[in-house]
Amino acid sequence: MNIGIVGKNPNEWGSAQLIASLKRFGLPCTYLSFPKLFARVGYKPVLSVDGIDLIKDLAALIVRPIGRGSLEEIIFRMDRLHALVRRGIPVINSPSAIEHCVDKYYALTLLEENGLPVPRTVVTESAKEALKGFQELGNDIVLKPLFGSRGVGSVRITDVESALRIFNSIQYYHGILYLQEFVPHGNFDIRAFVIGDDVSAAMRRIGSSWKTNVSQGAQPLTIHLDKQMQNLAIEAAKIVGCEIAGVDIIETNSKPLIVEINSQPGWRGLQSVTQTNIADHIVEHVLSKVKR
Ligand SMILES: Nc1ncnc2c1ncn2[C@@H]1O[C@H](COP(=O)(O)OP(=O)(O)O)[C@@H](O)[C@H]1O
Ligand SMILES: [Mg+2]
Repeated sequence: MNIGIVGKNPNEWGSAQLIASLKRFGLPCTYLSFPKLFARVGYKPVLSVDGIDLIKDLAALIVRPIGRGSLEEIIFRMDRLHALVRRGIPVINSPSAIEHCVDKYYALTLLEENGLPVPRTVVTESAKEALKGFQELGNDIVLKPLFGSRGVGSVRITDVESALRIFNSIQYYHGILYLQEFVPHGNFDIRAFVIGDDVSAAMRRIGSSWKTNVSQGAQPLTIHLDKQMQNLAIEAAKIVGCEIAGVDIIETNSKPLIVEINSQPGWRGLQSVTQTNIADHIVEHVLSKVKR
């Protein structure tokens, strides 16, 4: 039973943890990098890496960060994951779950359609329309890259002049304007790490500014989530189709709000404050998906 891990770098912390965990479980593991994942059409093997026929040899595939690339590269990475799914290989997370989450608008819309609480958000291609959204959202917004992560590129904007200047330059470069009402949160939020039907571990992230990403210097603090909050995170992950998810939740006086779901989450910060071995949990979940 060969478990694959696909990503851009086998030394990436999460991949290394999974490789070590699979070793502890006594399971053979193959690390596949996307450039080596070879596709054939009209003859076999349809997908291989270094002569390994993935359809024959893989019991399951764990997806780690798919990395940056051109539109063609990213679509082709997703194409090969979809091809594996169509041929019956459990891919975790599935390419459709990844597609739902990488696009913050797509994920938020799915959550809202299913009745989950999210911040008020405006998304448009037009700087002029975005300015209307800025005013609708109370002249205090967070502008985020549609496909961003780790807090990189997000800015808080509170004056019209800066808003228009920034919106115009994003429109000029054909970017999408994703504006969200600024939700006051006292510089901390919750990251719930969902695996299957459980929250494996959770942390409060305490930032020195409104960005509470650990990669932006926020400090992780272990917390136990009450059942209601756990269910919220689990339901959110289910709605976008994630079996493994990092769910970011801002607490407000009235209710918690989900700001995003990470479909290829890291857990280094979280692992540093929890006794639970998260990599082992992931591997156990993946094994439960393997067709015997
Ligand atoms: N609407 C918001 N109001 C206030 N803070 C926010 C808002 N959205 C995001 N943040 C803060 O910025 C961080 C990064 O935003 P997030 O949507 O999770 O994107 P990323 O993919 O960059 O992590 C969040 O963890 C949170 O601390
Ligand atoms: Mg986040």
